[in-house]
Amino acid sequence: MTDAAQLSTRRGDDFLSLADWDPASFEALLSFAVDLKRRWRDGDRPRLLEHRTLAMIFEKQSLRTRSTFDIAMFQLGGHSVLLSQNFIGVGVRESIRDVAKNLERWVDGVMARTYGHDTLIDLASHASVPVINGLSDRLHPCQLTADYITLKETFGDLDGLRLAFVGDGNNVANSHVNAAAATGVSLVIATPDGYDPDPDVLAAARARGADVEIVRDPREAARGADALYTDVWISMGQEEDAAARREAFAAYTVTPAWFDDLSPRGVFMHDLPAHYGEETVEEAVHHPRSVVFDQAENRLHAHKAILATLLGDPA
Ligand code: CP
Ligand code: NVA
Repeated sequence: MTDAAQLSTRRGDDFLSLADWDPASFEALLSFAVDLKRRWRDGDRPRLLEHRTLAMIFEKQSLRTRSTFDIAMFQLGGHSVLLSQNFIGVGVRESIRDVAKNLERWVDGVMARTYGHDTLIDLASHASVPVINGLSDRLHPCQLTADYITLKETFGDLDGLRLAFVGDGNNVANSHVNAAAATGVSLVIATPDGYDPDPDVLAAARARGADVEIVRDPREAARGADALYTDVWISMGQEEDAAARREAFAAYTVTPAWFDDLSPRGVFMHDLPAHYGEETVEEAVHHPRSVVFDQAENRLHAHKAILATLLGDPA
């Protein structure tokens, strides 16, 4: 099947988890994003989302997700409406079902950043329009789409790539596990005991063929890796556990000294925001081997591809 045919079957789908993306369709999505990025740079302005509207619900803070979904809609000829939780009170001022039943009458898609992943599932089950996961406590699939665009651009292709994720087995780590299943990239995750990725996500991804190893020594994970990735120790909503987490992750601060252990082509990755002095330091994020701001840039192109696939005409 061609890439366009792969993606055309996704029109109207939700985008909740990379577990729903087999290798061929995920590859088609990444290629579509790279193509849209190149076309924009070359001055092409495809209006793939003309007159389409996206509602953006945020229960949590955001810089990158909020900006890039808004800009993606605008640059493809559509429009977005920002709805912060303080304003609309999903599940507080009115039920998730009623929010969905209102929004579907006005908009062509809903992007939501939530605490509970179940909020997204509920929203998607009641809304007739696509629902996109802009981060939940469990998963962050949009981030990993941008990250894999970055890996493709950095390394040319993903074959034989070895990625090390060091830190909390959180939403970003869980999506790394799903991305490994969708790409064949081999993934080593270093976490302290008690902070492993979600066992259900892990088991399901391994059943789909993911090559994922869990280790306890972050320096061992980094050794020979082509990409060393970290994320915050204290995710949004985990602030009450901050002290215990800082203690558990004390040996997990990635500094430029770690880069000597990577493969000769190895790069440093982080989804941002960074908590400097915890999971990493400013010198690592701004290091010549860092591709952190390429990842941030690629959020825009990832979201264009996701939106055009679900809400528009990907041709
Ligand atoms: N990486 C990421 O999702 O950034 P924001 O929280 O700023 O959207
Ligand atoms: N794990 C982080 C990711 C932020 C983009 C969090 O959930 O806060």
